Amino acid sequence: MTTQAPQLSVQVVAHRGASEDAPEHTLAAYRKAIEDGADALECDVRLTADGHLVCVHDRRVNRTSNGRGAVSALELADLAALDFGSWKTGEPYRGRVEEPDWEHRPEDREETSVLTLERLLELVADSGRRIELAIETKHPTRWAGQVEERLLGLLGRFGLAAPATAAGSPVRIMSFSARSLHRVHAAVPTLPTVYLVQWLSPRLRDGRLPAGVGIAGPSVRILRNHPGYVERLKRAGHQVHVWTVNEPEDVDLCLELGVDAIITNRPRAVLDQLGR
Ligand code: G3P
Ligand code: CA
Repeated sequence: MTTQAPQLSVQVVAHRGASEDAPEHTLAAYRKAIEDGADALECDVRLTADGHLVCVHDRRVNRTSNGRGAVSALELADLAALDFGSWKTGEPYRGRVEEPDWEHRPEDREETSVLTLERLLELVADSGRRIELAIETKHPTRWAGQVEERLLGLLGRFGLAAPATAAGSPVRIMSFSARSLHRVHAAVPTLPTVYLVQWLSPRLRDGRLPAGVGIAGPSVRILRNHPGYVERLKRAGHQVHVWTVNEPEDVDLCLELGVDAIITNRPRAVLDQLGR
């Protein structure tokens, strides 16, 4: 039997927390990701009607909570009254795995309540180890710069929007919107930005990204169909962070192509595959 050296050069990023096991974007999912040993946490952020940044993927809360309506039309207090866990943990269990490696404690409401970005930053600050954050701005056009302004203000309060240290910035901002990333870059040029690519339009094929953006975030589907894209990005001097990589064959593909970060719903399984 041959023993392979652990793959240390690729970062494992927990997508919406350890979201295969625990309900996405909850404190429970992020705690689990930290316990699992993830190098970084991914989260989507949206603004509530009263100006709080909350970690919610969809425009509406209908899929992931017992409530209804658009996040942008609800206040934080409205969201705090909802349960963001039972959609995944209700009886019978309706998630992807039958026996989640996580214990749901309904009595501990905070674990599955709406998660503010501020609370997530506190969790990371209290973790006692370096955990990076990949924060994605959702719906940035709806708020004309307010998402980025609030986000940078909050990061500033946690000392995370300052010029990068020798170890590199522990936070990066991701978006499908070049305009959103441009706003971030104009305000804090040292904060790394990731341009998310869902499909490879002709203007992106040669590996160029919008001005000021250092990191490319292609979907794993793009890598399957256009494996040469990674090399073109690397040649253009960009890092490559790939989403959402849940299948072992896709992890192998990412390793073969030499990507820099794997964004996954299953951080523990990916770390196991990397021998870590
Ligand atoms: O990490 C990037 C990925 O999360 C983008 O897609 O729809 O899951 O936010 P989505
Ligand atoms: Ca996302």
